Amino acid sequence: MLDKISSLINEVKEINVNTHEELEIFRIKYLSKKGLISELFDEFRNVPVALKKEVGQKLNLLKENTSDKYNSLKEKLTENDDNNEYADLSRPSFPYPSGSRHPISIVRNEIIDIFKRIGFVVSEGPEIENDDHVFTKLNFAPEHPARDMQDTFYISKLSPEDSSPEDILLRTHTSSVQVRVMQNQKPPIRTISPGRVFRNEAISARAHCIFHQVEGLYIDTNVSFADLKQTLLFFAREMFGQQTEIRLRPSYFPFTEPSAEMDVSCRICGGKGCNVCKYTGWLEILGCGMVHPNVLEASNIDSKKYTGFAFGMGIERLAMLKYRINDLRLYFENDIRFLDQFKSAL
Ligand code: DAH
Repeated sequence: MLDKISSLINEVKEINVNTHEELEIFRIKYLSKKGLISELFDEFRNVPVALKKEVGQKLNLLKENTSDKYNSLKEKLTENDDNNEYADLSRPSFPYPSGSRHPISIVRNEIIDIFKRIGFVVSEGPEIENDDHVFTKLNFAPEHPARDMQDTFYISKLSPEDSSPEDILLRTHTSSVQVRVMQNQKPPIRTISPGRVFRNEAISARAHCIFHQVEGLYIDTNVSFADLKQTLLFFAREMFGQQTEIRLRPSYFPFTEPSAEMDVSCRICGGKGCNVCKYTGWLEILGCGMVHPNVLEASNIDSKKYTGFAFGMGIERLAMLKYRINDLRLYFENDIRFLDQFKSAL
């Protein structure tokens, strides 16, 4: 019997399996109730007392070795399963939390995407600017109230009365990028400039000292107000749906003449009137106009030869209308419960 046990010990040592089925065959052969080891334990009853101790020890060793072997073979097989990409295709995936873009980024990307389709390219400029690019070259009069410290964050100002080009400030609008583009490129120009802007405002649900705008500029020969209108109509319909209507109301900006503000028909009530559009049926979304000849000339573009249009819109406002967000502060608090609600491919 001792020989039999020894040869089984050696046999088990050599065994290897490649599949779960082979492992099960191994278990049944050696470790099951009717397996070889059980059989030996049954025979053990007939072993002479003098040999019981030695045979017993050997038998226990065989049993231990065999179940160790079984466990290690099993472990190896399961490990392989995990490494096998085809292991179990029906298993639920791990719940990795996926991030989402900020609503401002989503809307900015959507605006860029729409204008790119009609040939606009993206240009950017610095957030820390000088008076020249933000005001003077955009035809702001020296005493224009926007230059006031109450609206503008100055980083250095030579003297309160003096608005020299050396004044350094945080840009109050992305129209400053228009000036940089005009200074660096020759017409035809077709560009949009998304970016962050700063104004010295008390923070509330409807105002913030930091927000985002997208500026548009198109300069070429024979650019007309009709081109501006069709471009904006295309944009409004891509952004808010093909049934959207626009209306242009006369307005004033120093850098455009004529100037207008554009409303889109309220998509929530379809123009009938609701609390979002304050029962007017219209929502104001941007300012626009034909680039003032003084602005073209200030950047050395011949205003006799070229004309152009420009427009500027606030991204927060568009995102508010799109997602019905009613408090500007939500954009900046980065509360994960707010951010988590926005998923987009753009
Ligand atoms: N810069 C203006 C603002 O911040 C928006 C604007 C209005 C931009 C008319 C333009 C424009 O280019 O033509 O309110």
